[in-house]
Amino acid sequence: MKDQAEGLRRLVKQQKEAARVIAVTSGKGGVGKTNIAVNLALALRERDFRVVLIDVDLGLANVDILLGITPAFNLGHVLRGERTMQEIMAEGPLGLKILSGGSGITDLANLNGWRLEVFIKSLELLNREFDFVILDTGAGIHRNVLSFVLAATEVLVVTTPEPTAITDAYGLLKVIRKQRPDAKVRLVVNMAKSPNEAQLVADKLNSVLLEYVQWEVEYLGYVLQESQTAKAVADQQPVLLAFPTAMSSRSFRRIAGILAGEQVDAASIGLKGFFSKVYDFLRAQ
Ligand SMILES: Nc1ncnc2c1ncn2[C@@H]1O[C@H](COP(=O)(O)OP(=O)(O)OP(=O)(O)O)[C@@H](O)[C@H]1O
Ligand SMILES: [Mg+2]
Repeated sequence: MKDQAEGLRRLVKQQKEAARVIAVTSGKGGVGKTNIAVNLALALRERDFRVVLIDVDLGLANVDILLGITPAFNLGHVLRGERTMQEIMAEGPLGLKILSGGSGITDLANLNGWRLEVFIKSLELLNREFDFVILDTGAGIHRNVLSFVLAATEVLVVTTPEPTAITDAYGLLKVIRKQRPDAKVRLVVNMAKSPNEAQLVADKLNSVLLEYVQWEVEYLGYVLQESQTAKAVADQQPVLLAFPTAMSSRSFRRIAGILAGEQVDAASIGLKGFFSKVYDFLRAQ
């Protein structure tokens, strides 16, 4: 049975030409986005998907730090026309491909139009090479963050049970809902003390969303607060590899399993559309 399922998955992968673009984001900072983006990307690699993790938090890139790698070049070099996308692509654990942020670029919209277009066109080339493009974004509703989030066909909004994080998640979800009613938006509750607490957070958020915007976000799963995660982060190791049997690692595998098992409408995926949207959004400001 397992072999058959594996064979089918491979077949589906071969037929597919467009990558699924998943933006990991949050209203409030420090809720665990980068940790989730890195470990989810690795859990998808474990399933043999072709995955690239892009750190689009261009001001304060974190992915390198979490993985303990120091790539010589980053997206800043591409934006400045000094390196190509292929030249800056680094390889992380399990063959995960990484495009580092770390450019110190404060506002994408200030780039000249031609540069931005070249940049976006070169990102589009990744379309055929990958099954999943995971974007680790910054927090909040600044246009640099939103331009990537609103352009993605799938968005994972991360919150913790902290009231401020929930409130900020609500604010962000409202904006996403208004501007991209067609996006597949889902919630991950991080640093919960129990599955029950995480469920209560999702319920609370959804009751407010229902009341004010007549909409509910899909609850994808939780990651519990765990000392092994904090230790892995401090050691610059992904928890999935440092502590493969930790509860967090199991959560990442479960969430990756849900993402991997989905049938996604071919028309709704693809980097090409994605990056043109980023471009349009930035130019419209
Ligand atoms: N499930 C967890 N259990 C324990 N600690 C966690 C967990 N998830 C994240 N952390 C801790 O929270 C901190 C912030 O995580 P992370 O850098 O992933 O957040 P972020 O949302 O990407 O932050 P930023 O908004 O600054 O980009 C890390 O130091 C990490 O140790
Ligand atoms: Mg981060």
